[in-house]
Amino acid sequence: MTDHTCTGDCTPTLQRTRASDPLPGLDKLVDFETGKMSRRLYWDHAIYEQELEKIFARSWLFLAHDSQLPNPGDYLTTYMAEDNVIVVRQKDGSVKAFLNTCPHRGNKLTFADGGNTRNFICNYHGWSFGIDGALRGMAGQELFIASGMDKSRHGMHEVAQVASYKGLIFGNMDPNAPSLDEYLGDFRYYLDVMLDMDGQGTEFIGGSVKSVINCNWKVPTENFIGDIYHALWTHDSAAHAMLGGPVSEVYKNPDSYHVNFNGHGWEFNTDIVGNAATLGDKEIRKYLYSIQPQVAKRLGEVRSRMIGAISSASVFPNMSFLPGQNTFRVWQPRGPHKIELHTWTIVNKSAPQEIKDRWRKGTMMTFSPSGVFEMDDGENFEFSTRTNAGFVTRQQDMYMGLGLGSQLTDTDLPGNVFRNQVNEANHRAFYRRWMDLMQARDWSEVPRRDVPKVKDGDLVYPMAKESV
Ligand code: FES
Ligand SMILES: [Fe+2]
Repeated sequence: MTDHTCTGDCTPTLQRTRASDPLPGLDKLVDFETGKMSRRLYWDHAIYEQELEKIFARSWLFLAHDSQLPNPGDYLTTYMAEDNVIVVRQKDGSVKAFLNTCPHRGNKLTFADGGNTRNFICNYHGWSFGIDGALRGMAGQELFIASGMDKSRHGMHEVAQVASYKGLIFGNMDPNAPSLDEYLGDFRYYLDVMLDMDGQGTEFIGGSVKSVINCNWKVPTENFIGDIYHALWTHDSAAHAMLGGPVSEVYKNPDSYHVNFNGHGWEFNTDIVGNAATLGDKEIRKYLYSIQPQVAKRLGEVRSRMIGAISSASVFPNMSFLPGQNTFRVWQPRGPHKIELHTWTIVNKSAPQEIKDRWRKGTMMTFSPSGVFEMDDGENFEFSTRTNAGFVTRQQDMYMGLGLGSQLTDTDLPGNVFRNQVNEANHRAFYRRWMDLMQARDWSEVPRRDVPKVKDGDLVYPMAKESV
């Protein structure tokens, strides 16, 4: 069953199939009371196919940073899960996104990573499209018109919703999905730690690094959503190399937390520069200490202590970043056992050029394919997936019960707040959201579990309440 409606302008809305029924026994795959979780979530093809439909084709997915598309006609190609898309700045400054496929006979439209253009021309028969997606020209146009074709209905397939939050541009394939602001909800309060330290915003340093890891896409997302626990062990030797001491020394601060909202999660310490220290660059630490008092005036004391602290975060379903280390990444799924990892370095626009350069080098030394921490992680991600090829192995459960009962109820901090960064509260919240979406036929069936404290107007600073 498909539903295809013309919007009345040049580009047709996406055709969507009706949601398939939830997989039988889905609710048995995770036990939220005990923290038990089935290994099938990392392996089954049937689960993966439904994830493409029910998670990725309904969620807000990261497309681009504003700084990558400064001028009209600037475009880049990226992925929304396995769907290749073109993201392009319009003449009026807005951004549109389209499937990177020709509506004629289906060829790929552009093969470039990005550039500036006035139109997209298909290699196959030469149809050309404006940056607004409208079909402009075709060879032998009169023959098509004689065949009854309405040119206005054959533009590029437009992504249903595009919206941005403080420089981050997201797309959503589902016209009925909640707004980006509602989707991010209270998590915006924490995103501002990275995106809005001084009101001047952020930028991506030019270029990105792409690599392939043979793992299920959820393994790295949950690692970044709140698994500082692994750093003690996995990254111990790399931390010795970068810090001159064990990583355990840098996160003994008892003021550490897991926070989550709508399946997005952030774990943090309040040490200001713990993550930045692992880059092994004193100038970056000095920079963070120098701006911290100003950030405290703007965002309050707690958030000013998170700017470069030992911390990590994921936005549901597959975008992650590390404050202080400044790697920013999307885990693009390529089947249930493989991802394409896209990474960038994000910096404050206002930072001195020398500091931006130091950050670029720092992320290459730590979180690139040859980076000391990324190499440690990649092996774990691959074998946490690969072992489940074994039929009997696959029937066994895993455990994510660390920190059950640690939720704080007496806090003014937004979102769901849990004491102690060494926790798996955010893992459980991620899978709760995953389960809600996998069981719902459409957004109207997705439970609203998390009640927002943050109203849009409150994101004007300073927002004072922050007891923990
Ligand atoms: S497939 Fe693109 S013009 Fe024919
Ligand atoms: Fe790691």
